Amino acid sequence: RIIPRDKRLFLHNKPVIQYVVEEAQRSGLSDVIFVTNRDKSVIEDYFDHNLQLEDILEREGKTALLKLIQDVAEMVNVISVRQKEQKGLGHAIMCARSVVGNEPFATSVGDDLIFSGTPGIKQLLDVAYSEDKPVVGVMEVPWDSVSRYGIVDAEECGFGIYKVNSLVEKPAREEAPSRLAIVGRYVLTPDIFDILERQAPGYGGEIQLTDGLQTLCKQSKMVAVDFEGRRYDTGNLKGFLEATIDFALDHPETGAWLKSYIKDKAATQLPSSSITAKS
Ligand code: G1P
Repeated sequence: RIIPRDKRLFLHNKPVIQYVVEEAQRSGLSDVIFVTNRDKSVIEDYFDHNLQLEDILEREGKTALLKLIQDVAEMVNVISVRQKEQKGLGHAIMCARSVVGNEPFATSVGDDLIFSGTPGIKQLLDVAYSEDKPVVGVMEVPWDSVSRYGIVDAEECGFGIYKVNSLVEKPAREEAPSRLAIVGRYVLTPDIFDILERQAPGYGGEIQLTDGLQTLCKQSKMVAVDFEGRRYDTGNLKGFLEATIDFALDHPETGAWLKSYIKDKAATQLPSSSITAKS
């Protein structure tokens, strides 16, 4: 199971959330729980059949398009729960408690994109099975970015695998125990729910998952996995642009064209006034 928070941004020809769901599906997960709010019911509709549109496409003989939208609707079982107040990632996860029940589950933050050979969640699941412990996905980030992430204090115990000693949400650079940052992928055990129910608000006055994980870590040990792959935070503009450009450069339809477009642009060096005038 997976609990993404969501964004409606499009990357190339698909919404960002679709890449996150595809990663879960390729990892072998079949049930997706979206934790949404009142503005985001469009997401559950997107992953459902639209019989009216399918009918039109069929009548018009647009079979390729028809297959495309039917495949999206068949991708996973969609369950949706509402987070009625925005009280943090830990609170969002508690909203899914009654649906998840007493089973381990995976969580994805819906605006963190991971492009990798082995899907991001699968990399975590493999370690969760072999170690029989909760797992968080991490990546090294520059020191001047540590205050934007949950940071782990950990010791490497295998290639890219760490034993977690403690976790802290968005520490100041001087207080960060390392620059190993949590990047929005987790495999958790249901005991996190009782912990989160009792969790006092932390950073930003919100119920932080990282604070709950700190308690879980003391109770049942925890492992961090340094992902293989590229990660983009599409929740901020620069991360979204990086993902868009890298994706288009790698894509057979757009790669060669974008390379020469960027080269031409860089060579022309448009005066900033003409860019402002056009935008
Ligand atoms: C959340 C988590 C943080 C994690 C980050 C990854 O923060 O609280 O620990 O490092 O996702 O994207 P947010 O980005 O919601 O502030």
